[in-house]
Amino acid sequence: MAGPALKQLHAHRAIHDASLGGAEDHVADMKIMLNKMEHKELAEEMQSFIEYVEQRILTHADSEEEESGLYEETVRNNPDMHDKIQHLTRDHDLMRIMIDKMKEELAKDEVDFQKLVDYSVSIVIVDEIHSRDEEAFLLSE
Ligand SMILES: [Fe+2]
Ligand SMILES: [Fe+2]
Repeated sequence: MAGPALKQLHAHRAIHDASLGGAEDHVADMKIMLNKMEHKELAEEMQSFIEYVEQRILTHADSEEEESGLYEETVRNNPDMHDKIQHLTRDHDLMRIMIDKMKEELAKDEVDFQKLVDYSVSIVIVDEIHSRDEEAFLLSE
């Protein structure tokens, strides 16, 4: 069973908005550090952004996809939703892929910080589009 909060538009949207807002704050800080060439601080901030996205955004995504979770329940109740659920799951996957690429980049001897900032901006954009689509497709007032 999906948790009751995930089935209610207002509660679910509040979870989306809180996690998106926090991610946007991290990105704003990273852009400032990139401009100032503060690479040591930037590497720490990147690490903290990765942990934030994993804990707040990807854990939420995992719970939506888990057995008998929101997505499975939606398709069971309405098989016509199958394709939309696939698209939403692909959005989650894109964010997971970009987080893995960020980890790979951060582990290199010569880190490309601009690339890392680009990934972090992309994650925020995908998360925002995904959240609004999910609210529109799956949740009613
Ligand atoms: Fe989601
Ligand atoms: Fe969600």
